[in-house]
Amino acid sequence: MEEDLQELLLTLPSEKSLAGTKSLYLYKGTWLPVSFLRAVDSFQRDFIAQDTDIIVASMPKSGTTWLKALTFSVAKRHIYGPKESPFLTASPHALVPCFETDLYMKDPQPNLEQAPPPRIFSSHSHFANLPESIRNSKCKVVYICRNPLDQVVSFFQFAHQCKQDGTPLLVYKQDGTPLLSLDECYENICRGVLGRGPFWDNVLGYWKASLERPDKVLFLKYEDLKEDIISNLKKIAEFLGIPFTDEEEKEGAIEEISRLCSFDNLRNLEVNKNGVLRPFGALNSSFFRKGEVGDWANHLSPSMAENYLKIVEEKLSGSGLTF
Ligand code: A3P
Repeated sequence: MEEDLQELLLTLPSEKSLAGTKSLYLYKGTWLPVSFLRAVDSFQRDFIAQDTDIIVASMPKSGTTWLKALTFSVAKRHIYGPKESPFLTASPHALVPCFETDLYMKDPQPNLEQAPPPRIFSSHSHFANLPESIRNSKCKVVYICRNPLDQVVSFFQFAHQCKQDGTPLLVYKQDGTPLLSLDECYENICRGVLGRGPFWDNVLGYWKASLERPDKVLFLKYEDLKEDIISNLKKIAEFLGIPFTDEEEKEGAIEEISRLCSFDNLRNLEVNKNGVLRPFGALNSSFFRKGEVGDWANHLSPSMAENYLKIVEEKLSGSGLTF
């Protein structure tokens, strides 16, 4: 590790991640694994947005994969019809690359100029930490959040199941149980110690921005998409300035996008069953687990859930955002 990074790390608060192996560092108000620090810094300092850019933003494990597929399919529907969709052979994470875990990790100065507009990228950065040109240009930000209990359970399961080139990220004990159980992570979770967290800071920045500038930031909830994907697809298209025409609606274009991006369809595609996400190294399949609302009840006791929700509610109080 370079000397300046080592020196920086000595000055930052650190805690164990959900996987129990790597440390998270609190950098500019965000808990980050050390492997992302450089990329986060380069992205936040150097990226220059174009007015036509679209940024898919989220706290990890909130439905980013789904929103990437939906946003790309809506924004590029005049180029690729559902039958020739690039999602049939490429992961949503390959088609909508993440600034911090992909583009700026591969190369501190990626050449992004060649991509045809609209360029679509993703980020897990807090709104306040996005490069100024994203916040101040006319580019659009689509954000997805999720019930904090399902988000945390999904994150823990991801850390548990996610493999890098076949090796579990999580180090298991000899008896096969995870190094850290969800119970053992719970105290950290309640203090907001989650990669890209605290949860409430990640969510609140985008929530407030969406209220102040509804033309700039669209704030979506995973649960709403599950309940009514069609009206949310219309919302995304209108927000991007390319509403579905009457003719498209009649021809069933919205239903086709909804089907293409559905959990069952994406999960069963060869690329998402067996592909590997570079340079992160995670299996594409680890981004498709259950895709359900309320799975937290199978992993958290009622008192753990109640207590964590109370903490989140307190953090969000007065904002108008509820779960
Ligand atoms: P679960 O772990 O609860 O199943 P992210 O994409 O932000 O990493 O979030 C991953 C979560 O979204 C996982 O939740 C995953 O199963 C779910 N997911 C992935 N693709 C989905 C889709 N097309 N529709 C609904 N949920 C999806």
